Amino acid sequence: MAPRGGFSSRIGFIAAAAGSAVGLGNIWGFPFEVGEGGGAAFVVIYLMFCFILCFPVMATEIAIGRKTQKNPVGAFTALGYKNWNWVGKLGILAGILILSFYNVIAGWAFGYIFEMAAGHFGGGEQFGAYTLKIFKVGGYGLAFMATTALVVSRGISGGIEKAAKMLMPTLVVMMLGMVIYSLTLPNAMDGIRFYLVPDFSKINAGVVYNAMGQAFFSLSLGMGALITYGSYVNKKENIVSAAALITLADVGIAVIAGLMIFPLIGFMSGGTMEGAAGGPGLIFVTLPTIFGTLGSIGPLVGTLFFVLLCFAALTSTVSLLEVPVAYAVDELKIRRSRAVWIVAGIIFVIGIPSLLGFGYSDFFSTAFTTYKEGGTDTDFLSFIASVANDSILPLGGCMIAFFAAHVWKKHNLDDELAEGSPNYKGSFVQKYLNFAISYLAPFVLGVVFVLTVLFKFFGISLF
Ligand code: PHE
Repeated sequence: MAPRGGFSSRIGFIAAAAGSAVGLGNIWGFPFEVGEGGGAAFVVIYLMFCFILCFPVMATEIAIGRKTQKNPVGAFTALGYKNWNWVGKLGILAGILILSFYNVIAGWAFGYIFEMAAGHFGGGEQFGAYTLKIFKVGGYGLAFMATTALVVSRGISGGIEKAAKMLMPTLVVMMLGMVIYSLTLPNAMDGIRFYLVPDFSKINAGVVYNAMGQAFFSLSLGMGALITYGSYVNKKENIVSAAALITLADVGIAVIAGLMIFPLIGFMSGGTMEGAAGGPGLIFVTLPTIFGTLGSIGPLVGTLFFVLLCFAALTSTVSLLEVPVAYAVDELKIRRSRAVWIVAGIIFVIGIPSLLGFGYSDFFSTAFTTYKEGGTDTDFLSFIASVANDSILPLGGCMIAFFAAHVWKKHNLDDELAEGSPNYKGSFVQKYLNFAISYLAPFVLGVVFVLTVLFKFFGISLF
């Protein structure tokens, strides 16, 4: 059998895993969730979830992957628990669903590079008309999926690692440049205040579920993406410190995205922060309107912004595609180069209803219902996002943690985490991780899963 390949260095693995985590979730999702969740109070809850709950789950996923050197389905089987591999299958399903709609948004962002360069800053009306041009946006989506497939087809060190090592540092530099620029605008500080000074009266159950879902999605957890990347990591790697760095990088980029966007909203709203709760349209509607007010520098700033959004999205779509591809390669014994294009093609087709749900098809725009604070969502993309991000990911995370602690057993997890980390055993981190994986994560994630499903799909709110 051909060797499975792997990351060639520690930094390559961290760049790729951080690249998976950093994506639309940070730059598009996080600011709009902060805006809808009332600002800084959301940020505080989000940070708590990331470090207290998500970081241990991340270390566990990577450990399972490295131990077994397998995709999420094969991993459970390799540990001797074939009857648990449905968790892996659920993860692969989530990955396919997420990539199907994620690619639609990434395709829009890709097209917006050209819209911005051409100085088209028409806000909501323009965005509405843009999403209706099905062949145009479909073409951008297809181009994005093909780019993703190209990277994945080159394999782990030659494709995924190389792309991430180049794209991630560029992303950080571009974002910092944008932050400095945003902070110089009038009323920038009103944006910062909204973003960083918490008002805890704004917290309710819905905000807490969203913070949880956002943390999981943003850190690429609960579906085996990090089991898969972990399977390409060598035994010398210190998993715990890598997971900590990846979490920090992801949170750091989300925080920077906020520093970039809220001052812009402060500037545009004259300090009232009206428009901060712009929802998913924040990036495609509010920001271009702001770029339009910047005069001659507008097209440049706008183009840069969407280029960096595409960079961030690409390292995430690559990891999303790698999960079903690794499954096809390991379990179905399909050649990587072939598996990549078949899987990418299928997922593109699955994404078509998401593409059509922005007014082009009445059915896909209105026939689906999920409940949210103060109303309902109706289009297919939002529906699928609720199914995958808000439901399957927490369930997957709950099952992975429960499995690792109580089925595979804590001491086996400890042994794997101690490889490459000689001081791990007996440390405080070990004790905390054990507690989090055995009790905290299964319980909190299980409860959040049940409450979210009741609320989002049945409109039943227990709190
Ligand atoms: N974490 C990515 C983002 O924030 C999305 C993602 C989710 C990627 C799950 C892989 C797995 O954009």
